[in-house]
Amino acid sequence: MKYSEYSVVVIGSGAAGLYAALKISQQINLPEGVLIISKSTLDVSNSRFAQGGIVGVVHQNPEDKISLHVKDTLKAGAGLSEEKVTEYISAASDEVLNDLIQNGVEFDRDENGNLTFTLEAAHSMKRILHSGGDATGKGITEALIRAVRKDENIHVLENTMAVEILVSAEKECKGVIIYNELTGEHQVVYTSALVLATGGAGQVYKYTTNPECATGDGIALAYEAGAVVQDMEFIQFHPTALAMNPNSKNRFLISEAVRGEGAKLINKNGEEFMSRYSDKRELAPRDVVTRAIYSEMNLEHTPNVFLNASIIDQARLLKRFPTISGKCKDNGIDITKTPIPVAPAAHYTMGGIKAGIDGKTSLKGLYAIGETASTGLHGANRLASNSLLECVVCAYELADYLSFANLEIPKKIDEGIKKMIDVYSHSISGKEYDAKTLISKLKDVMWNNVGIIRTEKSLQAAQKEIEQMQKDFKRRRKCLNQTEYEYRNMLIVASLIIKGALERKESRGAHCRSDYRQTNDIALHSNIKIDRKKELEYVK
Ligand code: FAD
Ligand code: SIN
Repeated sequence: MKYSEYSVVVIGSGAAGLYAALKISQQINLPEGVLIISKSTLDVSNSRFAQGGIVGVVHQNPEDKISLHVKDTLKAGAGLSEEKVTEYISAASDEVLNDLIQNGVEFDRDENGNLTFTLEAAHSMKRILHSGGDATGKGITEALIRAVRKDENIHVLENTMAVEILVSAEKECKGVIIYNELTGEHQVVYTSALVLATGGAGQVYKYTTNPECATGDGIALAYEAGAVVQDMEFIQFHPTALAMNPNSKNRFLISEAVRGEGAKLINKNGEEFMSRYSDKRELAPRDVVTRAIYSEMNLEHTPNVFLNASIIDQARLLKRFPTISGKCKDNGIDITKTPIPVAPAAHYTMGGIKAGIDGKTSLKGLYAIGETASTGLHGANRLASNSLLECVVCAYELADYLSFANLEIPKKIDEGIKKMIDVYSHSISGKEYDAKTLISKLKDVMWNNVGIIRTEKSLQAAQKEIEQMQKDFKRRRKCLNQTEYEYRNMLIVASLIIKGALERKESRGAHCRSDYRQTNDIALHSNIKIDRKKELEYVK
C-alpha cells in the first residue's frame, strides 16, 4: 500500500473544507503543505448549491445586533441551541465575513457599493448577505476554489474518498485510508490533524435538496472510529423544493428568500393557507412551514402545493432570483406569471459529530467542521443561512487553534493500526453489490418512516428494515467501489437517525412525533449523544 504524510489533512471541498485549507495554509508554515481531499471534483458540494445567503452581523449593517441574531437562533433551535456557541459564532461573523471578502468572495451590493441584506424566515431583521442574487454558494465556493488552486502550499486530491479513520489504542486519530474511484487504489495518509468537512446526509432520504455527495460519510466514519455524535434525530426538511413530478428525487431548492421577498403559499384551489398554521404565515420557522405544507398536501391529496411569486414586482423578482427563475423556465414555468409547484424535501442534518467551535471532537487529532459537525448552534431546528456562517467561522477558528498545536506527524504506528491497514492490502471475495438499488430502497424506508412526521411504529419498522439491510450487506470495512462505501455509510447514518428519533419521545423543532405531540422540557431538554461504546447518553 502506498502511503504519505501530512501534518494536516482536510476531507471535503465545501465551504468548510475549502476555507479551512486556505486559512491553515495562510496561517501555519507547514513544510509539506496542507492536503485537501474530495470524493468528486472540488466544485461538487452542498455549499455550491446554497441560494439564500449567509448570516452576517456585520459592521456594514449597524442596525443589527449580536443579541438579536442570538435570540432568533435560540428561538428556532427550540431549546437545544447552545447560547455560548451561538453568541461566539454570531460575534465572529463580522471578522470572518470581511476576511472572506478579502479572499475574493463578492457579496451583492447596491448602486452605491454598499452590501445588501435580505430577510429569511424567523429572522427578526434583514441580515443575510447574498451573492449573484440567489447563487450565494456558487459565489463563495468559486472564489475559494480559485484561492485554493492558486495557493502552492495546498495539495489537492480529487475523486478520492476517505473510507476509514485510523485510531490508535490510546484513542488518537493517526491518519486515514483513502480510495481513488478512478484507479481503484487504496492509500494510507498519516497525519496529526484529520479534519472532516464532509457535509450532511440528505441523500439518506428519497426526496432531498442535497446533491449526491451528501451521504453522511464523515458522521459514519467518525462514529465507527469511536467519536461521539449527537442530535441525529434532527433532520431539517425544507418546505419548498421544486416538485415538477413525484419522480423527481433530487429536488431543486426554491429559496426561503422568495418568501422573504413576499411570495405566498397556496393550495391547489388557489387559497393562501399559512394563516391557518401560524401568525407568522410564510415566514414562520422552517419546521412549521414544512408541516403546514405536508398537512395541506395530505388534506388535498396532492403531491405538492404552490408558491406564488408572481405578486412580487417582476423586475425585482428576476433580478433577485436569476437561478430560480432560470431553472423554473427550463421546466416550463414563468415565475412572474405562474405559481411554482413545491413540496418539502430533506435539506439539512442538524446533528453530527460532536465538535467545538474549533472543530475538536472527542477523539484527539480528529476535527469536524461544517454540516458534518454538531457544535450546538442549530439545536433542534436550524435558522436559515446560519449554516454557511457556521462553516466559515469554525474553519477560521480551527486554523487559529491548529496554529498553536503540535502538528508533528505520528512516527509510531501501533499493531492495531497495522491490522486496520492490512485489511485494505488484500483483495476481498464476493461480487459487487447492486449498491444503487440498495440505496434507493434505503431512501424509501427513511422517507416513509423517519420523515416529517414519525411514530414509534414507523421508527421501529424502519429500524428492523435497516438492521436487516446491514446484515445482508456483508462489507463492514473494505468495499469494492465508491457506491458500496456510500451505501455502508448511509446505513450507519440511517440507523443513528432512527436511534435518536426513537429515543426522543417528544416533538421538538424538526423532530415531530405524532404519538408524542408535546415538547417535554422536563425529561428531554438535553442532547442525545451516541457513542459506539456507551451507546445512548443524555447530556444537559
Ligand atoms: P458540503 O458543502 O456538503 O461539502 C462536503 C464535501 O465533502 C463535498 O465536497 C463532498 O464531495 C466531500 N465529501 C463527502 N464525503 C467525503 C469522503 N468520504 N471523502 C472525501 N470527500 C468527501 N445554508 C446557508 O447557510 N445558506 C443557504 O442559502 C443555504 N442554501 C442551501 C441550498 C441548498 C440547495 C442546500 C442543499 C443547502 C443549503 N444550505 C444553505 C446549507 C449549506 O449549503 C450546507 O449546510 C453547507 O454548505 C455545508 O457545507 P460543508 O462544507 O459542511 O459541506
Ligand atoms: C434557502 O435559500 O432557502 C436555504 C437557506 C438555508 O438553507 O439556510
